[in-house]
Amino acid sequence: METQPVQDHTEFSNPNLKTMFTAEEIKTRVEELGKQITSEYKDKDLIMIGVLKGSCVFMADLMRKIDLNLEIDFMAVASYKDGTVSTGDVEIIKDLMKPIRGKDIIIVEDIIDTGLTLTHLVDLLETRGPNSIRIATLLDKPEPRINKDLKVDYCGFTIPNEFVVGYGLDVAGRFRNLPFIGVVKDPGLL
Ligand code: IMP
Ligand code: MG
Repeated sequence: METQPVQDHTEFSNPNLKTMFTAEEIKTRVEELGKQITSEYKDKDLIMIGVLKGSCVFMADLMRKIDLNLEIDFMAVASYKDGTVSTGDVEIIKDLMKPIRGKDIIIVEDIIDTGLTLTHLVDLLETRGPNSIRIATLLDKPEPRINKDLKVDYCGFTIPNEFVVGYGLDVAGRFRNLPFIGVVKDPGLL
């Protein structure tokens, strides 16, 4: 009978992950961003829009550090790739539940890579007449950026061009629940 290899680690202590930002480092940075947004949105009519699914953890932590009267909403989009290269086409899988006319919007993302998803999202939301749109992202990977004009207003950390997981970010749906952000050392071992 074939024996199963014994797994001597848990998901969070997976030796195939190299930590880039600890839970403590993320917490400190999210608090700083929350304070900044709190001071800049005092007299505004704020709606935070999370882009599913990756932003869910960041959104949940960030909004609890913003001491203002605010609302939240979510969108889900699919970005189409031609092989590994983004085509820039974005399909709305789930739209907002309420109009945003006259509101001050912060789009909350997990990570900005080429920037094409957000460019489309901003263009779409602009047509609905909000008072303002700003972007908050936990991570910014500027190297692969295609839309160099995309302005990132609130950024947790700028990172090198590496594929990261955890704190909402996934590879093939896995690792979103990690409390830290890490790099998969050997993708062949997943
Ligand atoms: P882009 O900016 O349109 O290229 O796409 C950004 C989206 O790609 C993010 O919202 C993530 O869903 C995904 N993505 C890009 N880089 C990473 C990464 O390093 N880890 C996990 N997801 C990523
Ligand atoms: Mg995403």
